[in-house]
Amino acid sequence: MKSLLPSPMATSAPTPVPQLIDGYGRQMRKLRVSLLEACNFRCFYCMPAAMRFAAHPKQLSATELHAICRALVSGGISQIRVTGGEPTLRKDFREVMTALASLPLEKFGMTSNGFLLEPYLPLLKALGCHYLNISLDSLQAENFNRMTRSMGFEKVMSSILKAHEMGFQLKLNTVILRGENDHELLDFVRFSEATGIEVRFLELMKIGMARQFQPEAFISAEEQITQIQNTFSLRPIVVEKDATAFSFQTQGGGKIGFIASESRPFCGDCSRLRLSHDGKLRACLMLNQGKSLRDLSEPELLKVTRQVMALKPFQRIESVAQNMYRIGG
Ligand code: 5AD
Ligand code: SF4
Repeated sequence: MKSLLPSPMATSAPTPVPQLIDGYGRQMRKLRVSLLEACNFRCFYCMPAAMRFAAHPKQLSATELHAICRALVSGGISQIRVTGGEPTLRKDFREVMTALASLPLEKFGMTSNGFLLEPYLPLLKALGCHYLNISLDSLQAENFNRMTRSMGFEKVMSSILKAHEMGFQLKLNTVILRGENDHELLDFVRFSEATGIEVRFLELMKIGMARQFQPEAFISAEEQITQIQNTFSLRPIVVEKDATAFSFQTQGGGKIGFIASESRPFCGDCSRLRLSHDGKLRACLMLNQGKSLRDLSEPELLKVTRQVMALKPFQRIESVAQNMYRIGG
């Protein structure tokens, strides 16, 4: 006879939390977490030379960041990338990274300018933060220092080589700008062949300050590929549907990718949300609107997250006045 008692499975199973899926069927999987706006570089396309940063009164603490991220992970976020500004400038960087590393994630990564990174590499390794993206706009010390308005080249290069040696999943981000570093395009491919480090070339996006000179400085991924193919033969590598880059292998073992945000936007497959240092959740890099997740209970937080997701564009928004360091790269 069939028992009228509920099965133990039915009573003990946790209530399923509805996933973060938007109206276009896009499951939010990735979260960018900006730890602060400040940066110790002044890349000319990102910030004015005279930019000054004051301590931010409303910055989320490590505990608050952890609580917000934990709630988003319960809604299906499985990958977190920490960004800035420059994340290593956070005074409590260790504490923040340790807190985030305790979440059940498929991928935990960080984007950095590399200047203060090297001493933190053992910590990041121990925490399982394996996916490092380091910005490198030039392989020539003088050009690098000019573009970043810093004296950082040696330290950044040392961090890059050390991270590679330590076995991190490393990618270099290179924004290609006409008349600034486009003469180094082939050198970057040679660098990838010589070291085995992946280099990703970014199209200059119409964000903040860069809008002023973007039309002249912009070089499409297609133009970059054509130029590279004159010297190197490229074999495409299959990437995930919501990847931002399309990637190639060179015959000499180099790995290069192109992030064609302007010429071939990938918004339709985007699975990213962005959390700013003061708790504002945004649905897109190109949208300044968002909502604060600060001090919310988990169900409220997921509700507000869905409201933010409703703002997520399906097609590329032309440009945004807010600078990249404010939204989180
Ligand atoms: N277009 C493309 N990339 C940009 N970055 C900053 N501003 C822009 C822009 N306008 C890059 C940085 C860094 C990454 C986080 O974003 O150089 O590599
Ligand atoms: Fe700093 Fe990155 Fe902006 Fe350069 S692009 S100034 S490294 S935040």
